[in-house]
Amino acid sequence: MKPKRLKLAAIGCGSRTFIYFELAAKQPDLYEIVAAADHTAARREKARLLSQNPAFREFHDDVAILAEPKLADLMIIATQDAFHFAHASAALRKGYDLLLEKPISTNLRDVLALEKLARELGRRVLVCHVLRYTPFYRKVKQIVTSGALGAIVAFEATEGVEPWHQGHSFVRGHWGVVGKSTPMIISKSCHDMDILSWLVDSPCTALGSFGGLMHFRPESAPAGAPVRCTDGCPVGETCLYNAHRYLSDKKNWLEIIYDRAKTATDAEIVDWLRTSPWGRCVYRCDNTAVDHQTVNLNFASGATGTFTMTAFSAGRDLAIFGTKGRLLSGERVKKTAGCDIVVETFATGELERITIDHELDGWHGGGDAGLIRTLHAEMSKAKAADMESSLEKSVESHVMGFAAEESRRTGRTMDLAEFRRAHGG
Ligand SMILES: NC(=O)c1ccc[n+]([C@@H]2O[C@H](COP(=O)([O-])OP(=O)(O)OC[C@H]3O[C@@H](n4cnc5c(N)ncnc54)[C@H](O)[C@@H]3O)[C@@H](O)[C@H]2O)c1
Repeated sequence: MKPKRLKLAAIGCGSRTFIYFELAAKQPDLYEIVAAADHTAARREKARLLSQNPAFREFHDDVAILAEPKLADLMIIATQDAFHFAHASAALRKGYDLLLEKPISTNLRDVLALEKLARELGRRVLVCHVLRYTPFYRKVKQIVTSGALGAIVAFEATEGVEPWHQGHSFVRGHWGVVGKSTPMIISKSCHDMDILSWLVDSPCTALGSFGGLMHFRPESAPAGAPVRCTDGCPVGETCLYNAHRYLSDKKNWLEIIYDRAKTATDAEIVDWLRTSPWGRCVYRCDNTAVDHQTVNLNFASGATGTFTMTAFSAGRDLAIFGTKGRLLSGERVKKTAGCDIVVETFATGELERITIDHELDGWHGGGDAGLIRTLHAEMSKAKAADMESSLEKSVESHVMGFAAEESRRTGRTMDLAEFRRAHGG
């Protein structure tokens, strides 16, 4: 029997919704894109084109789309972080299940309140922790659950944000000012908190964290650097963060933030950079997000682990140490061993080298495509709790992330059960 098509609608038509719509439209047997809301007409129009649905309906905002009788099975919530809680709560109340962009909310109290609301209303919420759907992490999870490593005793994980990405998103961009969005450990690394707790498969009980903003500060600005790259910077030629790169090798980043990126002339783009946040010198912004942070984690099983986020590396690295063997993986392994994962078995000394089929790669190592490929099946599971990235499971990563930020700010070691209780959980 053919599966019932899942009707999709969206609140917020930015880069995330466009990716999901594009992927969903390629699977018309599973999905039908029926409606979307956004303040910007050009974005609504792009959503309409991507939907490939002549009956597609567009709305100016969340209020307008939610004033209609329920239009779809699933509402994608992909506005900016600070709106997630309000838009997700309203959509749940209207009767929608959700595909909810991370973070669930910008504060833990609302995260826990949303979990409670979804439970009370009996709705399904899948959080876009897309790494769970990548071929790479699926393979790592399979190795861990196979028992090949024995019991997990410890891990070391690193997330290298990469200098340009840090400058684009966490200095100049949406997540630069923590008070307007979420702390870095949530906005960027809630994926890592999620993956680590998924792999260890045991609740995180306590953690401690250090970190700060070392580099992207006025003191680091080269002599004579003006407030904007477009004001004629004396070191523009050699600066890694020169905004003029949006015209050349960083054009794909421009497409995420500037609707006319593909059609505008170079002169128009430079004009846009003169007033846009992305034209500012990275050393002269209003940014407060950290550029490095470490977290020490303790789990109920007895396992421990360390996580480091840094602007000054690229890609993720993960080493897992088990009683029977160890697993080394990620960017450094790829560079040195030429494969994605190496598994060493202590008893035999045997080394298994694993290469992942990266055919599906796109943004997020194939995670976006993996999510949309399995979304229909996820939403059809008998119990919401069985979903790979259910709200209940995703809340765990947010408790860890918000606790890490609290620890970083206060210097305290955090008891996670106590922290959760203090926020209404
Ligand atoms: N899962 C991931 O790996 C991942 C990656 C990047 C971003 N994100 C998250 O996805 C979310 C969206 O990111 P983005 O880059 O697509 O953002 P974006 O800023 O490009 O798009 C958000 C859109 O929401 C619209 N909007 C604002 N208020 C609205 C309202 N009241 N009603 C309807 N539309 C409204 C804006 O006009 C804008 O077009 C963010 O919360 C971000 O943190 C997740």
